[in-house]
Amino acid sequence: MAEYVVEFGKDGRPVEPDGRLDAAAFHRNHEAIAAVLLPYLTGKSGDVVEVGSGTGQHVVDFARRFPDITWWPSDLNAAHLKSIEAWRLHAGLANIRPPLRIDLSDSDWCPEMLDGSGPGKLLAVFCANVIHIAPWRVAEGLVAGAGRYLRSDGRLLLYGPFKRGGKHTAISNAVFDSSLRERDPEWGVREVEAVEQLAAGVGLGLVGVSEMPANNLILAFERRS
Ligand SMILES: C[S@@+](CC[C@H](N)C(=O)[O-])C[C@H]1O[C@@H](n2cnc3c(N)ncnc32)[C@H](O)[C@@H]1O
Repeated sequence: MAEYVVEFGKDGRPVEPDGRLDAAAFHRNHEAIAAVLLPYLTGKSGDVVEVGSGTGQHVVDFARRFPDITWWPSDLNAAHLKSIEAWRLHAGLANIRPPLRIDLSDSDWCPEMLDGSGPGKLLAVFCANVIHIAPWRVAEGLVAGAGRYLRSDGRLLLYGPFKRGGKHTAISNAVFDSSLRERDPEWGVREVEAVEQLAAGVGLGLVGVSEMPANNLILAFERRS
């Protein structure tokens, strides 16, 4: 169990009576994120797990845009799991499954990934804004699980701020990094190269780096042939 999980999704609209949280960042970023996912997911079917889904707003947006894909949101925070389920019911989309409780610091992720009651081999794993607000072992568990559960043409898609070549890509990211580390010395903006090294350890290679608004990146990993 991860010790430090921050509550998220309280900086947007007030919490709805059914538990739906709203994250201001979702409204700013979802179009740009979906545009990058488009070439990876268009025309595809299968199971995609979103880890650290937070409010659950992204998964609803993805499920609308990619109706042939079955979406499996997840988180480990109780308020977030409630919000995800509330957004799922509110959206009424048949291609979103109830949220799984996945703690990425466990490389098995959750029993459902192993016992056949969860998704099959994955078309993709999507993870936004998690690994810098969590200890490094969360990144390790994320990548280990992706290496294990992705199908042969599957991809790990990772959104967030990253350092490149040992340097921050913007002063605002450096300031953010310091504030994260002050809050918890185990947190911090991660290096693309460090994540790449983790991925290489499970046979995944970096195939795409997309520059996103507000100095974020989307890293795309796939199996090395
Ligand atoms: C900053 S929020 C991002 C939420 C969402 N992905 C987004 O970008 O809108 C970080 C999320 O990671 C989740 N999280 C933190 N530690 C985790 C862990 N060990 N395993 C799975 N999720 C975790 C938190 O509960 C939270 O929902």
